[in-house]
Amino acid sequence: MAQSGATARTGALIVDAVRSPIGRKNGTLSHIRGDEVSAQVVNTLIGRNGVDPGEVEDVQWGCVSQVDEQAWNIGRNVALTAGWPVSVAGTTVDRQCGSSMQTNFNAAAAVWSGQLDLVVSGGVEMMSRVPMGSNHGSMSPLVWERHEIVMQGISAEEIAKQWGQTREELDRISFESHMRAARAIDEGRFEREIVPIELDVPEPDESGGAATVTRVRFAVDEAVRRETTLEKMASLQPAFIPDGVVTAGNSSQIVDGSAAVLVASEAKASELGLEPRARFVSFGVVGVDPHLMLHGNPEASAKALAKAGLTWDDIDVIEVNEAFASVVAQFLADTGLQERYEAGDVNPNGGGISLGHPLGATGARITATLVSELERRSARYGLATMCIGFGQAIAAVIERV
Ligand SMILES: CC(C)(COP(=O)(O)OP(=O)(O)OC[C@H]1O[C@@H](n2cnc3c(N)ncnc32)[C@H](O)[C@@H]1OP(=O)(O)O)[C@@H](O)C(=O)NCCC(=O)NCCS
Repeated sequence: MAQSGATARTGALIVDAVRSPIGRKNGTLSHIRGDEVSAQVVNTLIGRNGVDPGEVEDVQWGCVSQVDEQAWNIGRNVALTAGWPVSVAGTTVDRQCGSSMQTNFNAAAAVWSGQLDLVVSGGVEMMSRVPMGSNHGSMSPLVWERHEIVMQGISAEEIAKQWGQTREELDRISFESHMRAARAIDEGRFEREIVPIELDVPEPDESGGAATVTRVRFAVDEAVRRETTLEKMASLQPAFIPDGVVTAGNSSQIVDGSAAVLVASEAKASELGLEPRARFVSFGVVGVDPHLMLHGNPEASAKALAKAGLTWDDIDVIEVNEAFASVVAQFLADTGLQERYEAGDVNPNGGGISLGHPLGATGARITATLVSELERRSARYGLATMCIGFGQAIAAVIERV
């Protein structure tokens, strides 16, 4: 099988990949800062692999709303909060929803080029504490003259319209996401990737007295609606336009979470006696129409597959980020992967609709889930792809080793 140029260089190894459980909006994780959740995640990541934190050269962290407690280069602050030596550098990356897939790309590229040997790549987004849009972005009038910029939910509606999708189709994908996620939890499929988070949760006193604080060990994804039905989902009102088909039920959920990947060169892995679980094979990034915005997954995937010298037939497990069900349906239609989806090879364990989509953390979260699923199946290749706000997409091919 043809291989990418990347394989001729040192491998960019995925030593391990972990994540916090995902907390529902205003749920358990809303009581802890993102840098503190992330610190627990990265400390477990290196601790369970016997890596001294001083060996880590850089923390590359995805985060979209870089304001308030997610500002001031949270990547560096994660290393400091984790209590790592000051020699560990840190940076923060914003490629919107693809931010921590981009940190994977940056980490792998740094390893492939021989510039770094041990990197922690990941991300965080505490959407309950630092709401989407709270960084008050704006764009030049020059952009507005050329493109009709809308919010993501409107693009999701446009995609549904242009691809001829029905509300029933979108709700079915979303229902399936919840059922698959619930099954994954029940079967313990996330056990290897989840880092339980310890935190204090205040419980208000019913009679108006001072809240009592309880120490909690938060270990299970909280946003999954296992009790949902297609009937309940059909009853939800459109979320973005009056006669639309996009609802709270078939959109990704607003949640809190953090995830991290330990990326090493072959030399470093061997020096430290690390046992890699997978490696990065290739990446693809594309820009697409900023108005339609969320339809770039097939193109980014095609690019990553071409760089890897692979085709869809070589890929055992596919993760397409469930930003909206219309994005998943469009991806399946354009790639011809509908049957693979029905067979459970695409998003086998749910996704952003059921688990939630903590923007800056999702790329690393999907990587962790994909690695676990490749192991569960004893499979070789996985591909993860994510659409990105204002018209981009990023995809990665990974190989279990
Ligand atoms: C769509 C969106 C606006 C909905 O926000 P919200 O109204 O706060 O969503 P909620 O989770 O509170 O759900 C609204 C209601 O629908 C219900 N609901 C949601 N999903 C459901 C499901 N699967 N089954 C049954 N009921 C459901 C909720 O229980 C809630 O009911 P309630 O009002 O009686 O409590 C928000 O989730 C969103 O913006 N998502 C997209 C985020 C995004 O753009 N990310 C970037 C992607 S590119």
